[in-house]
Amino acid sequence: MSEATIAHLDYDLLDPGNRRDPYPLYAELRDAGPIHWSESLGGWVLSRYDEVHSALDHPELSAARFTPYLESLRRAPSVDRDSEMLYEGLNAWFTFADPPYHTRLRSITRRVLSRPMKAIGTRVEPLLDSLLAEADERGGADLLDELARPLSVGAIAELLDVPLADRALFLQWSELLTALIAGAVDVPSRRERALEGLRELNSYIHALVAERRGRGGEDVVAGLLSERHEGEPLSTDEVVATIAMLLFAGHGSTTNAIGNGALALLRNETQRRALIDGEVTAEDAFEELLRYDSPVQVTVRNAACDGALGCGEISAGDRVFLFVASANRDGRRVERPDELDLARSVRGRHITFGYGIHFCLGAPMARIVAPMALDRLFARARSVALAETELEWQATVGFRGLERLPVDVAA
Ligand code: HEM
Repeated sequence: MSEATIAHLDYDLLDPGNRRDPYPLYAELRDAGPIHWSESLGGWVLSRYDEVHSALDHPELSAARFTPYLESLRRAPSVDRDSEMLYEGLNAWFTFADPPYHTRLRSITRRVLSRPMKAIGTRVEPLLDSLLAEADERGGADLLDELARPLSVGAIAELLDVPLADRALFLQWSELLTALIAGAVDVPSRRERALEGLRELNSYIHALVAERRGRGGEDVVAGLLSERHEGEPLSTDEVVATIAMLLFAGHGSTTNAIGNGALALLRNETQRRALIDGEVTAEDAFEELLRYDSPVQVTVRNAACDGALGCGEISAGDRVFLFVASANRDGRRVERPDELDLARSVRGRHITFGYGIHFCLGAPMARIVAPMALDRLFARARSVALAETELEWQATVGFRGLERLPVDVAA
């Protein structure tokens, strides 16, 4: 990547305007060049499709973004055991790791998840029906708290065979972790809170693993305990870290995909009708909704060497922000990028699920659960309308989702 002068830009992604609609700012960033330095993020930013796409799978970028913190804590003269424990815990999640650790854990997890994921539709259908029936009965709902979130957490609980009754706990713990992982602002002492969340989550999973070990069976936990990669099983700590990561990764993005998708449809009657009238399948519609307003805005890498990506100004250890949500709106990639057009065929043409060795392992499940929810929500017999026009967006850079999405429902 060569640019004569690389811009240093200062902008606030979380000011109220950008939180409400970050896409005009992304367009400016794409126009400013293939790469720039962001003063506010303290790192390099890629926002065009081609650059983000190739960086997602680039060997000169490392996904082990917590390793530098851990190393500097270990070098520090004073001991900060709590922070060390937090970063050790997150470092064990294979999404924050490079090969060969990543390869070994991902390959086992992919094999174990494949069959249960395909069956997830029938397993969550009763939950979806009951959530929709409750919304009908009340004549309205907060689509996030009363549909998208319980459904997404319910789906991951079904997948992992953990009690549905514990879903309030998962939500609480992952909220504590989100503050750190997705770069939320306005959250005091986010490290302490994240550590508290991770500790409680890990101790819950340790107990679950102890109970399942030796019991056999076909569930995901049993599979993670027994499956091998090149003859080697996962250690108990690796199984615990992987389940914690799945619980975390498995519901927030799906919740926001349903929320953002529902909002886009509520705001666009023509496209909503196209879905209701069956002009497009819910699955195809969902792909365009993912492109149009991605629940994952950005993912982060660290430069693994000086001059990474052919950019002389990048130094080893620098953070590199890959804005997938901006890449999806790049006019060099799609025509009329700011228009929602459910009929366009975008599967494989957006990078909302990432790309390459870290491509989302939960995509097959999200692609079942979310279209089913949107399809049933807007089904022909039901009328759904926004109950509020002033909507508040979550204060995170990494994820994009509403705080609440109140709707009126008439069955
Ligand atoms: C619409 C919903 C979802 C979206 C938009 C999404 C998006 C993503 C993205 C962008 C990545 C790549 C991150 C990177 O390259 O740094 C990723 C990775 C991952 N996702 Fe998802 N995800 C969704 C749902 C799920 C679900 C339901 C699960 C689990 C059941 C899941 C599990 C994972 C895992 C395990 C990884 C790590 C893969 C790796 O590093 O090899 N995701 N996801």
